[in-house]
Amino acid sequence: MTDTKPVLILGGTGKTGRRLAERLTSQGIPVRIGSRSGSPRFDWEVPATWEPAMQGVGAVYISYYPDIAVPGAAETVGAFARLAVANGVTRMVLLSGRGETEAQRAEEMVKASGADWTILRCAWFPQNFSEGFLVESLRQGEVALPVGPVGEPFVDVDDIADAAFVALTEPGHVGQLYELTGPRLLSFADAVAEIAKATGRDIRYIKISHDEFTAATAAYELPPEIAWLLNELFTEVLDGRNETLTDGVQRVLGRAPKDFSAYANETAATGIWSN
Ligand SMILES: NC(=O)c1ccc[n+]([C@@H]2O[C@H](COP(=O)([O-])OP(=O)(O)OC[C@H]3O[C@@H](n4cnc5c(N)ncnc54)[C@H](OP(=O)(O)O)[C@@H]3O)[C@@H](O)[C@H]2O)c1
Repeated sequence: MTDTKPVLILGGTGKTGRRLAERLTSQGIPVRIGSRSGSPRFDWEVPATWEPAMQGVGAVYISYYPDIAVPGAAETVGAFARLAVANGVTRMVLLSGRGETEAQRAEEMVKASGADWTILRCAWFPQNFSEGFLVESLRQGEVALPVGPVGEPFVDVDDIADAAFVALTEPGHVGQLYELTGPRLLSFADAVAEIAKATGRDIRYIKISHDEFTAATAAYELPPEIAWLLNELFTEVLDGRNETLTDGVQRVLGRAPKDFSAYANETAATGIWSN
């Protein structure tokens, strides 16, 4: 970037946004956190908060919440992108998801907004096991999900933050769609086994039915939209459509993606999965 205007990082305290903020800040590039705890406050559900948050920024990293697969996400992300362009903020990096109808619609909305876009279309994050809804099950020694042997190429959020950093700070990434996966397909049972090995603990993986999963999410009193989303991801998206590796990390970063076992070993060492 040629100026020192801040980068607005939507979801800037979340899994990818927090790491992107660290990378930009360490290089002296100012950031503005776009979230409900940011200043000014940014809330996807309150459009009146959008324009104040984008004043004076040079670029935006768009990480939608709760998930870009949720119906209506495309319209919301599209409305945000058009407003940003109208306010003179054209550089945008969109965090998207693989094999998700709504996510691919959101990508089209951003492209049509007139933005100078880069899209990071990502596989599942390993960090869902440590910074998301699965951490408690791992601590308790049993993960039960409605997913069988389908392979998922988990992509580490460190690689995604590196890719976003490069896209925002180096030339040549406008108009590029990078499909980001890790280097290996793992089933959810494989992933849990890797974590069990890294922790030295006995952690079981059990495949349950969708009905059992729905009952379990109800017992945890998850908000209905999150329960809907989890079922959608496990039924629609984990049906084998994403069971392929891509060269996206190599293309954008010029190096191989981080392996799940490196994530599992590093994260186990923090003690987060200790019971
Ligand atoms: N997780 C995956 O495996 C995966 C894979 C591919 C793509 N994605 C996509 O990545 C995006 C982020 O997902 P994630 O799981 O990584 O979540 P995350 O970024 O960890 O989500 C938390 C962030 O969202 C902010 N937030 C929460 N409610 C908000 C609201 N109403 N308005 C504005 N900001 C709000 C939080 O800050 P405050 O609490 O301060 O508001 C925090 O910064 C989603 O669009 C998802 O579809 C995720």
